[in-house]
Amino acid sequence: MIFEQATVTMFSGKGGVGKTTCAAATALHYASAGEKTLAISTDATPSLSHIFDSSRDGFPASREMLRIRELGAAEVEQMWDEKFGKDVFDVFSSFVAIDYRDFVEFTTGILPGLSEEFMVDYIRELSLQGDNSHIVWDTAPLGQTLALLQTPAMLVEHLRMAPRIYSKLKLSRIKKEPILSIIGRWQKLSAEEMEFLRNRVQFVIVTIPEALAVVQLDDVFHRMDAHGLKVGQLIVNNVIKVKDSSFLETKSEQQKKYLDTIYAKYSHLDIIEVPMFPYELRGWERLREVEKVLFSG
Ligand SMILES: Nc1ncnc2c1ncn2[C@@H]1O[C@H](COP(=O)(O)OP(=O)(O)OP(=O)(O)O)[C@@H](O)[C@H]1O
Ligand SMILES: [Mg+2]
Repeated sequence: MIFEQATVTMFSGKGGVGKTTCAAATALHYASAGEKTLAISTDATPSLSHIFDSSRDGFPASREMLRIRELGAAEVEQMWDEKFGKDVFDVFSSFVAIDYRDFVEFTTGILPGLSEEFMVDYIRELSLQGDNSHIVWDTAPLGQTLALLQTPAMLVEHLRMAPRIYSKLKLSRIKKEPILSIIGRWQKLSAEEMEFLRNRVQFVIVTIPEALAVVQLDDVFHRMDAHGLKVGQLIVNNVIKVKDSSFLETKSEQQKKYLDTIYAKYSHLDIIEVPMFPYELRGWERLREVEKVLFSG
C-alpha cells in the first residue's frame, strides 16, 4: 500500500491572538471536505477541544473525519521517556549521578528544548504514518514555539562539538563508543527534524492589528528566516469590519495604522483578514464562519 504523507500546517503567534480558533476552523474545513484530519495541540494548556465544543450534539457528519488530540505535559513526558529517555540518560548519567525517574522529570520539564524537540519528532512521525491527509498543529504562544522550532537546529550545532568533548573525557563508568553512536543518532534525528520543518511544514502566523503584536512579527520572521523556515500565510485576526458606533470607529481607525504597516512589510505573503465577531467562537457552527473567511479565496 502507498501511504500519502499528511500535509502539516502549523499555527503560531503571540498569546491570545486566535491561533487555536484559526487552527480549529482549518481542521474543520479539511474534515468537511471528507479528508481525514488530525487537529493536534502542543500547548501545555490546550484549548482545542474546548473551542470545538465537541461534547455538544449536532456536530456534522464530517466529525468522523476529524480527530482532536491535545498533548499535555504528562503525555509528552511519557512518550519522550519511551522513545528517548534511555539514550539521553546514558549520556547524561555519565556526567551526573541521578536517578532515572528524576532525570525524566528534569529533562521533559525543566531542561529547555528537549521536550520541544520531541514534539517536532512526534508530529513528523505522525505525518509519515499515512493515517491522516492533514495535520493541523496548534501551538503554544510564541516563546515556546520559537524554542520548539529552534531546538533541532541548535542540537545539530551542539552535537557537532560532542565527539570532541567526549574524546577528551575520562569516562570510567561507561564506554565511549556507545555514547558516540547515540550522539550520531541524535545528529541524524535533528537533521531530519530540520528537514521536516523546512520542507514539509506550512507555517501560518496569526496576529492582530495592535502595536505589540505587529512589533513582535519582525522578530518572528527574523528567527524563522535564520533557520530557513518559510511562512506562507499571515492571518490578521480581530479586524473591525462593522463600524456602527463611535467606539468601533475609533478602534478601527487605530487598527488601520497597524494594518497599513502589515501590508507594507509583508506584501510578499498571503495575508488574510478575519473580522472581529461579536460573539464567542465556540462550537462548529461558529467555527464554520471563520472557515468561510479563511477559505473564501
Ligand atoms: N475573530 C474573532 N472574533 C471574536 N472573537 C475571537 C476571534 N478570534 C478569536 N476570538 C476569541 O478570542 C479568544 C482567544 O482565541 P484563541 O484561543 O483562538 O487564541 P490563541 O491564540 O489560541 O490563545 P492562546 O495563546 O491562549 O493559545 C477566544 O475566546 C476566541 O473565541
Ligand atoms: Mg491557543
